[in-house]
Amino acid sequence: MNLSNGVAPVLSARGVSFAYGPEPVLEDVGVELSSGEFVALVGPNGSGKSTLVRVLVGLLTPRSGTVRLFGEPPDRLRRRWRVGYVPQRLRIAPDLPVTVGEVVATGRLPRQGWWRRTRPADRAAVDHALESAGLADLRRRPLAELSGGQQQRVLIAKALASEPELLILDEPVAGVDAAAQRQFRDSLVHLVEEHGAAVLLISHELGAVADDLDRVIVLKRRVVFDGPPAELAATGVSLGIHADDLPLWLEELA
Ligand SMILES: Nc1ncnc2c1ncn2[C@@H]1O[C@H](COP(=O)(O)OP(=O)(O)O)[C@@H](O)[C@H]1O
Ligand SMILES: [Mg+2]
Repeated sequence: MNLSNGVAPVLSARGVSFAYGPEPVLEDVGVELSSGEFVALVGPNGSGKSTLVRVLVGLLTPRSGTVRLFGEPPDRLRRRWRVGYVPQRLRIAPDLPVTVGEVVATGRLPRQGWWRRTRPADRAAVDHALESAGLADLRRRPLAELSGGQQQRVLIAKALASEPELLILDEPVAGVDAAAQRQFRDSLVHLVEEHGAAVLLISHELGAVADDLDRVIVLKRRVVFDGPPAELAATGVSLGIHADDLPLWLEELA
């Protein structure tokens, strides 16, 4: 579903190249996302997915090319809550003396502003986010007591609670069971369909979302495919995309 009506795309990258050293990691990458689009970014390990999203959110500066978030360069984006980003590797300070519920509630702060009291809508968003990430039972637990995977789910819940207009998730919910995957899928679809958010999801495991995707982008240093899942199934092989390049859940789709 594409809800854009001639407004600036939520995200656009053109001609993006990047390297950490002499080896190019991204070459001439172009990506665009509009409101209400649910897009998967896939590709083999080391193909540049995490690097690309770090460039997209402004954590890395491309060697060439341009990135725009809501029509602005990433470092000029004023209302940061519009973009939710959950990195592949965890960056919560493990000894922070806070509970799961408290961390997730901070997802509302950029929207609330420090001067405003918590409203029922804030509480509802936090409750819903905890539920979606399968953390309802853990909300009063100290963050430090959680496993790495659970802590990543806390970051996902925090991002969901902020109800961003663009949500980028880098390999979330690795290793969670099918029921938790469905719950997570429902919360992403809710964000896309009810709030018109754009979602960019990197995942090897989320068969649960295969039917919900508008587009799949296959990255191998360059974008080798960008289109609907059915088209990938029909033309992928002729484009030189091998099953090994795709997560299992897309292979099954083909
Ligand atoms: N911080 C870094 N410094 C140097 N090289 C890196 C760094 N992060 C990733 N790379 C390299 O860049 C390439 C792309 O990595 P990455 O973006 O993590 O791929 P993916 O997320 O698709 O697995 C790999 O060859 C990886 O080794
Ligand atoms: Mg990665």
